[in-house]
Amino acid sequence: MSTTSRTVDYPSMEGAECPWPVFEYLRREAPVYQLPDRPNIYVITRYEDVRYVFATPEIFSSFNSRDGLLGFDILLSTSSSGGKGMIQTDAPDHKPKRALGFAALRPARLKAFDPLIHQIVDGLIDGFIDDGQCNFVEAFATQLPTILTLRLMGVPEEDMPWVRLWATFEASGASWMPKDFLERQRENGAKMFDYLTARLQERYENLGEDLMSDVIRAQVKRDGEFDLPEVRAQVAILLGGGVVTTAHFLSSLLLLLIQHPEQMAMVRRDPKLIVPVIEEGIRLEMPAVWQPRVVTRDVELAGVTIPAGSYALAMQGAANRDETKFECPANFDITRPNAHEHLSFGHGPHMCLGMPLARMEVRIALERLLARLENIRLAPGNDLTHIPSPSFRGLNRLDIEFDNAPA
Ligand code: HEM
Repeated sequence: MSTTSRTVDYPSMEGAECPWPVFEYLRREAPVYQLPDRPNIYVITRYEDVRYVFATPEIFSSFNSRDGLLGFDILLSTSSSGGKGMIQTDAPDHKPKRALGFAALRPARLKAFDPLIHQIVDGLIDGFIDDGQCNFVEAFATQLPTILTLRLMGVPEEDMPWVRLWATFEASGASWMPKDFLERQRENGAKMFDYLTARLQERYENLGEDLMSDVIRAQVKRDGEFDLPEVRAQVAILLGGGVVTTAHFLSSLLLLLIQHPEQMAMVRRDPKLIVPVIEEGIRLEMPAVWQPRVVTRDVELAGVTIPAGSYALAMQGAANRDETKFECPANFDITRPNAHEHLSFGHGPHMCLGMPLARMEVRIALERLLARLENIRLAPGNDLTHIPSPSFRGLNRLDIEFDNAPA
């Protein structure tokens, strides 16, 4: 079942622009597809199988999954579980690490972010509203999660160059991606490592009311003394995992609404629809297209035996468009009853820890954009191409025009 007459080149930089036909083909013909040139890699595309992979960590392990697939240690952490980010560990190490992140993103904390997000969103809109046009990726989508993260982490404005780095940092991929891409990731990982080492040491000596301090306090409470590598690994995921994804999604969602003016009008009439819009949008245009897992023992899936030691690439991008799960899956339909069952935030023990924050950011952004900009439309000349990335999905730029809504 894993053999197919057609050779599929995915994941690849070239395949990233429009992976949907490949996903459709694989779901139908080879739902567990062994890459011909890389026999230890299996691409999983059907909804139920992807969900099963996420829900079964004892067989599909996260341990070292990203570093292993990339072939290097992206954040220079150690290869033991100490100092590894939560996203690359399994039980029993995973839960206490995730708890450190939760200390910073607990619900009571999130509530307090609401006014700050409003302030950043309105400040960004103020910056371009009188121009009647902007490149939305640059002027808004990239800025919001990066500035928010900077503020939440309590780092000074002069660290803005770091904000740019977080906004493009991709902590995933595979060893067969182009050399310059891998080199850039390695360099950025090393820079991030040095930056965080310095900042966290300072912060430990001068704790405040910010997310870094929350993680440090929780770690010291847990272990009795400060463990910088452990805190650094968790904070790095909060930075690296939360900025680039949210940035990509904000632009993709606005484009979907521009392309479906009747649905944009529905949301303008009834702001309660913003929540279903976000779920349907992220189902269709997921910022993270797949997640890697290491197979711990021989396992059969969709009639294919995957040997222990292989990598399973669980394709959320394919699962979210599985026609056996979602009717007319390529359509953007904000009234779709089961849109929220998408796998864009993952599923199981590693399900996105920042999901409530991401949803909140996007909700406030959309509320304010729709309240302040009217007649949002594409500017002439958009090519709507996506960033060359093996596993993330986002627009290179999005040139829009709009009218200023009457106050
Ligand atoms: C639209 C925005 C986002 C998307 C699509 C997204 C997607 C994901 C996905 C798919 C995973 C699961 C990874 C796996 O199963 O291996 C994940 C995990 C994670 N995300 Fe997000 N994320 C987003 C925003 C955020 C934000 C804003 C933060 C934090 C500020 C964040 C922090 C994390 C962390 C810490 C994990 C690791 C959880 C664990 O391993 O237990 N994410 N994210």
